[in-house]
Amino acid sequence: MSAAHSNERPFLGYGLGLRKDHYEAVLQDRPAVDWFEIISENYMVDGGKPLHYLDRIREHYPMVMHGVSLSIGSTETLDLDYLNRLKTLIARVEPAWFSDHLCWTGVQGVNLHDLMPLPYTEEAIAHVVERVQRVQDHIGRQMLLENVSSYVSYSDSQLSEWEFLCEVAERADCLILLDINNIYVSAFNHNSDPDRYLRAMPAERVYQFHLAGHTRQDDLIIDTHDQPIADPVFELYAAAVQHFGRVSTMIERDDNIPPLPELLDELARVRRIAEHQLKEQVA
Ligand SMILES: [Fe+2]
Repeated sequence: MSAAHSNERPFLGYGLGLRKDHYEAVLQDRPAVDWFEIISENYMVDGGKPLHYLDRIREHYPMVMHGVSLSIGSTETLDLDYLNRLKTLIARVEPAWFSDHLCWTGVQGVNLHDLMPLPYTEEAIAHVVERVQRVQDHIGRQMLLENVSSYVSYSDSQLSEWEFLCEVAERADCLILLDINNIYVSAFNHNSDPDRYLRAMPAERVYQFHLAGHTRQDDLIIDTHDQPIADPVFELYAAAVQHFGRVSTMIERDDNIPPLPELLDELARVRRIAEHQLKEQVA
């Protein structure tokens, strides 16, 4: 029986993305962060400083691993060398879980360095499901798939994004990382209902939330991860906690990275919002 069927979603608490700017501060100050998410590709190497810090920080904090280049939706063959290196890192880190994005990042050897959405069609579902199953078989564990933000849509899409994600997760028997900011960004850009997205998700498969900042340019929002989390995303997060209950949550900050205490303040706000919603539920 897969974890998604056991109705026991593990809860790690409230975490941050581990960034090199904070390696020393994390080791020296041991901040009150419940867990860290690492970008897998930064540590899929044979040695050097990042691995040195990773091992030392891992001694004190639970971790999850988050990949950016699996390109699960691509029509290229799955990169076995990449999967082997990922498996080696998983054995080293022993993460609570590993994740990547429901997207494609390039074809014919060209990496677009962007997380491109897929057309939401039956054909794409079958293609992705088969690849997720192969990844899970190769790694020997279930993976989490994350929803990406989007600025364009395909005219041949037959399903909504949330229907597509649900179908892939159910058929591949994988888990879900819901990026609350991405839901907000895509809903804004495509004029769809973010609450409907949340309500459509199979709750037992949702193991993690991402929160992040974005940049608004007139009638388009770009998922920049270089700002504090915006108030409407906090509001959507509160709705998500109300709907799903306790879900491990972290802040993704990838650019314009502030000193660690600033992120800790933001994480304290995340924790307050979640705990408030959970108390309301009990009452
Ligand atoms: Fe994310």
